[in-house]
Amino acid sequence: MTSPPKNILSGIQTSGHLILGNYIGALSHWVRMQDEYNCYFMLADLHTLTVTQDPKALRERCYDFLALYVACGIDPEKNVLFAQSHVPAHTQLAWALCCFTQLGELNRMTQFKDKSQRHAANINAGLFNYPVLMAADILLYDAHLVPVGEDQRQHLELTRDLATRVNHYHGDIFVIPEPYIPPSGARIMSLQEPTKKMSKSDANEQSYIALLDTSDVILKKFKRAVTDSGSEVYYDAVEKPGISNLLTLLSIMTNSSISALEEEYRTGGYGRFKTAVGEAVIEHLVPIQQRYHEIREDAGYLTRLLQQGAQKASEQADTVVKRMYNALGLIPQSSLS
Ligand code: TYM
Repeated sequence: MTSPPKNILSGIQTSGHLILGNYIGALSHWVRMQDEYNCYFMLADLHTLTVTQDPKALRERCYDFLALYVACGIDPEKNVLFAQSHVPAHTQLAWALCCFTQLGELNRMTQFKDKSQRHAANINAGLFNYPVLMAADILLYDAHLVPVGEDQRQHLELTRDLATRVNHYHGDIFVIPEPYIPPSGARIMSLQEPTKKMSKSDANEQSYIALLDTSDVILKKFKRAVTDSGSEVYYDAVEKPGISNLLTLLSIMTNSSISALEEEYRTGGYGRFKTAVGEAVIEHLVPIQQRYHEIREDAGYLTRLLQQGAQKASEQADTVVKRMYNALGLIPQSSLS
């Protein structure tokens, strides 16, 4: 007898622009894994509220991201695509999990420390509790596997700790999830400061490639990418972080090994190499952009996807909230009738 496919849950915050880092570290793996697993892919819109948002822009951006998920190859018939805010179970479970989370655990989160430095005027309780909401996102879907980039590893560890703690006191409530962090491309670096992660909320647009950047812009960004001293192209993440980041990108975009690329581009200067990286990225993104524009224009289609997704996601998530609330001793509403 074959066992049923395992569940996957992952999401992207609908802030800033969807960037090449998100695609390489997460989305491209979702596309690859969708045939093998039962997948829930989420627009993490509630997470964006930890930073002040322009409401109109946020709403449009959620539709942009949804259309991009589909344009990148996520099949809405095979997977559940949904907005986190359409499934009340996320905040319902997050509250219960907050009561199992120690302040010290949240204080240790490096993303909280980074973000509170960057948004010093708005260090709100949401920013602090963010990893608990993320744990709820994952545990609601009985996810066995969570495909994410390297920067989410610590959040995944907290999720596992919380799930293990709850199970210890209350029986088998949660599936303990494993992170899936890809062996290559799990941490794409900024084009301007290659020792820093490429980030969709970076104030410097030159530091990232947005999936919707035009070909001209992409080429310019790569030509201006900060590289290292010397002129030889070879991989050395410590001595040559800029060139090594570009080699990683080119290797993923062209499906070639780093050593083959070193051989091809070692001499000939940085200029030729940077142009080759830009062209490979453009070749990869142009078909995605074409599909995106068609999908984004079809407002009715996107609305239907969200409705369908909210319903399917809620069916699954509600059962887990009930399981948890019941185990904690809250009166089940179903027992009242
Ligand atoms: P977010 O929105 O910052 O990033 C979305 C995904 O992209 C990956 N990523 C990268 N991968 C490689 N190189 C980079 N430079 C890079 N930048 C981002 C991230 O690791 C992530 O996988 N808290 C999450 C969103 C979230 C979530 C969840 C994820 C909310 N609930 C539940 C998984 C499961 C976040 O802010 O990711």
